[in-house]
Amino acid sequence: MSYKTNSDTIQFDQEQRNQISTAAAILDNGGIVAFPTETVYGLGADATNPAAVRKIYDIKQRPADHPLILHIGDIARMEHWSQDIPESAWMLAERFWPGPLTLILKRSRHVPDCVTGGQDTVGIRMPAHAIALALLNAIRPEKAIAAPSANLYGKISPTTSAHVQATLAGKVDMILDGGPCAIGLESTIVHVDHQTVSILRPGGIAVSAIESALNQSVILTHHNSRQTIRVSGALPAHYAPSTPLRLHTQAEIYKLALELAEQHFQIAVITWSDIDPRLFSTPEIRHIAMPPDPVEYGKQLYAVLHRCDRIGLDFILMESPPQKPAWLAVADRLQRASQAYLKT
Ligand code: TXA
Ligand code: MG
Repeated sequence: MSYKTNSDTIQFDQEQRNQISTAAAILDNGGIVAFPTETVYGLGADATNPAAVRKIYDIKQRPADHPLILHIGDIARMEHWSQDIPESAWMLAERFWPGPLTLILKRSRHVPDCVTGGQDTVGIRMPAHAIALALLNAIRPEKAIAAPSANLYGKISPTTSAHVQATLAGKVDMILDGGPCAIGLESTIVHVDHQTVSILRPGGIAVSAIESALNQSVILTHHNSRQTIRVSGALPAHYAPSTPLRLHTQAEIYKLALELAEQHFQIAVITWSDIDPRLFSTPEIRHIAMPPDPVEYGKQLYAVLHRCDRIGLDFILMESPPQKPAWLAVADRLQRASQAYLKT
């Protein structure tokens, strides 16, 4: 699958062009714009304006030491925002940008402290979405967009503009609509230095694709969540719906779902394997069948969890994903979503 998008070849209509230039003017003047990317919607500010960047932390209720990703519209800008760039970082950028990959590099003096949470590294990514790229090319050339996912801290990322609207309407200056996100899970975060390449967060680009692009094996550090606390997505309880979510095997789910339904709890049962839906034909249970393919599953996951939250259920029972490398990003998000409720 190719994630490449060239904004020059996309024809925007007049209204879209107006919206993009309005959004660029808002950013240039220190405002906040939620915008679509191919992974999830972002909450953007001018990265060179500390007052604007601080607004993002306020809106998200995010701790100040959790750094933001710098979004750029051109690979060559990597040299402006970072320094001492290893060859492997150039290879990854050329292979996967625009696309769902964030590179953690040594920051340059152009990056304000508030973007990096005071660290000496900076996360950089070039998103593969025509609207995001058009917006990045419409702001002043010396700027970039600092953007986390456009959700409240710890909650599920938005994959449609309606998801953003539901929590952030009235708190941001503009929400750009670009339809549902094509990937649906956040970018893969990769730390690169001259010796090693480590995956800090599995995501839209598979680990195997990174290894074959570099012809080198990579280190998986995301399991080591307590040591990498500054990657906020690496906190054990993150990406969580408001409804308590539990992960179970198919056999456990049959039993548990029927027990809970007997006690009149309203539940969602979300499965990916072949399961007979008639087993769940009681009004207390909503059965949601997910695709058995990890890419398709990832694309739908957050929208399904947002929908469960909107319905107002007592529990979400989720079938554990397969323990295969291709499912790493989905398994990581589900693990964290379930961690939030283990103690309740
Ligand atoms: O797909 C994505 O990456 C989306 C879209 C909007 O681009 N953005 C996103 O941002 O997921 P956010 O802030 O929700 O997650 C970014 C993660 C955070 O966990 C943050 O701690 C980590 O990237 N991060 C950013 N800069 C870092 C750095 N210098 N070192 C380590 N982690 C960093
Ligand atoms: Mg996030």
